[in-house]
Amino acid sequence: MADMQSTNAAAPSIIRRSDYRPPDWLVPGIELDFDLTAAVTRVHATLSVVRNGEHDRPLRLDGDGLFPLEVKVDGRVLDPEEWMLDGGALVVPLTGPAHAVETRVEIAPEKNSQLMGLYASGGLLCTQCEAEGFRRITFFPDRPDVLSRYTVRMEADKGRYPVLLANGDPVERGDLPGGRHWARWTDPFPKPCYLFALVAGDLACNADRFVTMSGREVALGIWVKEADLPRTAHAMKALKDSMAWDERVYGREYDLDVFNIVAVSDFNFGAMENKGLNIFNSRYILADPETATDLDYDGVEGVVAHEYFHNWSGNRITCRDWFQLSLKEGFTVFRDQSFSADMGSHAVKRIEDVRILRAAQFQEDAGPLAHPVRPESYMEISNFYTATIYNKGAELIRMMALMLGPERFRASTDLYFERHDGEAATCEDFVRAMEDGGQIDLMQFRLWYEQAGTPHVRALLSHDAANGTAELRLEQTMPTTPGQPDKKPMAIPLRVALFDPATGGHKGDQLLMLTEAAQSFRFEGFAAPPILSINRGFSAPVIVETNRSQADLAFLSAHDDDPFARYEAMQQLMVNGLIGRIGGQAVDEEAIVAAIRGTATDPQLDPAFVAEAIRLPSEAYLGDQMPVVDPDAIHAARESLQQRIGAALEPLWRDIHAGTKANGFSLSPAAKGARKLRNIALHYLVAAGVEDGPAIAFAQFHEADNMTERQAALATLANGTSDEREAALDIFYNRYRDDALTLDKWFQTQAFACHPDTVELIGELRRHKDFTLTNPNRVRALIGAFAGNQWAFHHESGKGYRLVADAIIALDKINPQTAARLVPPLGRWRRFDEGRAAMMRAALERILAEPGLSRDVTEQAGKSLE
Ligand code: PHE
Ligand code: ZN
Repeated sequence: MADMQSTNAAAPSIIRRSDYRPPDWLVPGIELDFDLTAAVTRVHATLSVVRNGEHDRPLRLDGDGLFPLEVKVDGRVLDPEEWMLDGGALVVPLTGPAHAVETRVEIAPEKNSQLMGLYASGGLLCTQCEAEGFRRITFFPDRPDVLSRYTVRMEADKGRYPVLLANGDPVERGDLPGGRHWARWTDPFPKPCYLFALVAGDLACNADRFVTMSGREVALGIWVKEADLPRTAHAMKALKDSMAWDERVYGREYDLDVFNIVAVSDFNFGAMENKGLNIFNSRYILADPETATDLDYDGVEGVVAHEYFHNWSGNRITCRDWFQLSLKEGFTVFRDQSFSADMGSHAVKRIEDVRILRAAQFQEDAGPLAHPVRPESYMEISNFYTATIYNKGAELIRMMALMLGPERFRASTDLYFERHDGEAATCEDFVRAMEDGGQIDLMQFRLWYEQAGTPHVRALLSHDAANGTAELRLEQTMPTTPGQPDKKPMAIPLRVALFDPATGGHKGDQLLMLTEAAQSFRFEGFAAPPILSINRGFSAPVIVETNRSQADLAFLSAHDDDPFARYEAMQQLMVNGLIGRIGGQAVDEEAIVAAIRGTATDPQLDPAFVAEAIRLPSEAYLGDQMPVVDPDAIHAARESLQQRIGAALEPLWRDIHAGTKANGFSLSPAAKGARKLRNIALHYLVAAGVEDGPAIAFAQFHEADNMTERQAALATLANGTSDEREAALDIFYNRYRDDALTLDKWFQTQAFACHPDTVELIGELRRHKDFTLTNPNRVRALIGAFAGNQWAFHHESGKGYRLVADAIIALDKINPQTAARLVPPLGRWRRFDEGRAAMMRAALERILAEPGLSRDVTEQAGKSLE
């Protein structure tokens, strides 16, 4: 035990789901005392620990970079021989069934550039503990199945940190000599330490109230820098809407007297659901017409809702271990998606969500980092906050909700909340609640949690004129993924309808369950061959291949009454055209132009839907449809089709652009839809190459009374080489240089642009005085966005890869979590030609060779090369 000097973190090892064991010691209560300064914060923790079961194992408290200045057991100071440090953890042998264990440590928030644990951001002190940040604050069993009641006392300089916040309810506060003050908070709900939070700073409050369904009054506070107060109205509205929605739709009521949200400018993710004290990346709180796009407004609404909904799906019921992460994240994403759909348009929300799923999750599933929704192992849990856990996880809940129907789904979620309230639960617990509450067998469905990869479904419709029947043959295959060479057939719910081309209608929508490798379904009463509408509403997260002709797709793009299927038909029509063109086939582009004209001039359609339907599939999505991605050919084909559509429908684009100019800013769905459509029209007009294109874009940029139109105009100009491009970028920069969130847009717009010299321009921006690796938003705006710009990032010289690898290496020394999130685009090398693949691998090898590389980046880069 004398060997307590070693504070080295353990060598990267693999944590397995199958190794789960209940904790040796429980910690029913903890008192924390913080003496806060940015340079040195002293933390005194008193844990009441209770032996869990019969064993003689010592108490093991996780720690990361901590050294105990004092350890006490039941009031007695231990000698250094009575404890030891093991891989950062504090190990204390204990004799009895229950003890009070105290530790004192000192930490340095100011030096914490990882943004995990207690850190300084813009003059504030704040915490981030999920997943394993609490061990950077104090010694504790840092695992989600150890639930404790917290009492927190904070002491700080009153001038610098007039506001002191923590979880739960404020109980007491007072002044101290020397301009200092203190506050005590207690949280009556036992919680895992990843939900702990505190904030100290000079903050102003947008205060409001909400009366819950049982009549309790809750004090709401959104805390920001004084100057940002006017930008918090949308977040407050979103919070109150979320609280009412969760009562109405899930019967879930808020449970504390206060609910606080704090916005910080340096944050690794979007936001964090700490009990009663959500901490947000400021980009998901602050919004006003001058600086926020409609997408930003929707982001604020969605993330505020997401974090609020976690109070039940995450906090009241938490996760047993981190392999169950999708238990809270998948369900909560499903809940926030449903909420946003209810607040706006179901059709458009579903289209947007599927686009995100395909862009992020399908790519993940198809690459070296593919993992199941409930993973089997990890090296660094921070790497598992993925589109698979979040977005595919949400699709799993959505499929179960579809199979159960609304009433039985609600009965099942009621059962889940009732059964597991106050517990650390598993994905299996959730599925069992769905089975018990919904009277359904989900045995085969559980494979969705176990098997990684996106199922492929081949759908072949044939017609027998003599019998007047149609037959739908469905075949499913699962691609192999790392560690999973053999797959079993999945249970796939597919909503289908068969359209009669003569009437333009169908006889009803059906839910087919595809459960075998191949299955056929027969339909009676079709004198003429029907047209297949399949995976309506995107009922299952699968890739569907059909034998539908371009004419069938054109028909559906005009007649399908399921908005998602209608959108999908239009997109497939365009994909087929573009892929055909890349393959050197003759393509009937007139059919595409006609479908766009038909959709854009249909007065029945919601403009926001029209805008989604008529925009060309992204270059990345086109790449996903090819055996080997050819970024240059994709870019050329897409640009040329865009030009063709722009030119062929020029008068229409001019009409739409002129006719959707608003008079005053509104956030109504109609106003948002009009802006979306107007921006697409502008885009096509400029793509057409009309002489006054850049001037029209510049005028929109100049005259806009909102960021949605201003940024879209800027993005349109950023693609070209016009004089207006430079002018607009300069104006934008000078107008917003002091507003970090808006300056991010200036970086991001250039990173997404397809300019002949994009890579060089990004290199220059990397050296710009306003670029910094210490702010994750800025890193994502430039480097993250650039890595998502397929054509520029995959420049055949390999200079795009070098740029991103350099950034990863530099950032890893500052913030490994954010650095690791930049690795996946390089890991897609198998999808590219040999030349590019070799350069991408070389970039990964260079990263891996870096001495002192973090566990985060080691895992991502290492797996990417396997
Ligand atoms: N749990 C957060 C959410 O999804 C995400 C998060 C994870 C934030 C890790 C910070 C760190 O709402
Ligand atoms: Zn979440």
